[in-house]
Amino acid sequence: MRFTGKTCIVTGGGSGIGLAASLQFAREGARVVVADLHVEAAQKTVDAITAAGGTALAVAVDVGDSGQVQACIAKAVSAYGSLDVIVNDAAMMTFTPIAEIADADFFRVITTNLGSVFYFARYGLAHMNDGGAIVNLSSVHAHATTANVVPYAASKGAIEAFTRGLSIELTARKIRVNCVAPGAVDTPMLWNNPNVKSGAEKVTGAIGKPEDLAAAICFLASSDAAFVNGTTLIVDGGRLAAL
Ligand SMILES: NC(=O)c1ccc[n+]([C@@H]2O[C@H](COP(=O)([O-])OP(=O)(O)OC[C@H]3O[C@@H](n4cnc5c(N)ncnc54)[C@H](O)[C@@H]3O)[C@@H](O)[C@H]2O)c1
Repeated sequence: MRFTGKTCIVTGGGSGIGLAASLQFAREGARVVVADLHVEAAQKTVDAITAAGGTALAVAVDVGDSGQVQACIAKAVSAYGSLDVIVNDAAMMTFTPIAEIADADFFRVITTNLGSVFYFARYGLAHMNDGGAIVNLSSVHAHATTANVVPYAASKGAIEAFTRGLSIELTARKIRVNCVAPGAVDTPMLWNNPNVKSGAEKVTGAIGKPEDLAAAICFLASSDAAFVNGTTLIVDGGRLAAL
């Protein structure tokens, strides 16, 4: 029960990795704020947590909208008093070559994936208890990628740099900031990816479960990782290691 008495916000908690992480935080005693664009999905996560005897709150938020992020944080603080953990999991992809992509689509990916990490830090830190943790979801695409997903890969690379820099700013408060970089994980995001459907991105043989990622996220958020700061934990079943 590593999170008894702690409050955790998990964005994207309505599906996939965020759903699994929300359930694990709750199993380990946390009050979980399940924040998602699709509030019905977030509510289903909350219903599963409360049915198992846990405590959780669903909040509708577009993580790429500063005002909505501020409102989400205000709801979390109003319900539970302060914050201990923020998991920035919600993200999106586009599948258009850079020579063809519309400006708005490029910046929507950057704002949703990277802007959200900034917004939750910028407005969440004032409410975070010293000793807390931020865990950001990167991707193996920050390290090796495929065609037509440049905005996504760029946003994930930037999240890792943002994480490193922010960790230095927060050392005095002992708030640790780390990334988890998943490989292929069995979620809707993986199976809706046209590059995966076409075989351009090969995932055979190295597909993780959302629970594998939840374990890594909760480790980095917990005091088990007290000496882990400003880094990225690649959780990909060894995929990046293979030629
Ligand atoms: N599944 C994989 O293979 C894989 C691989 C590498 C990285 N990741 C990363 O893991 C994280 C979770 O991915 P997943 O596979 O669980 O995805 P998923 O599609 O199963 O879930 C993503 C959740 O985020 C929510 N969301 C999307 N845009 C949002 C927004 N603007 N505001 C609020 N919520 C929003 C969706 O409603 C959904 O509930 C993402 O950051 C993703 O980039 C996933």
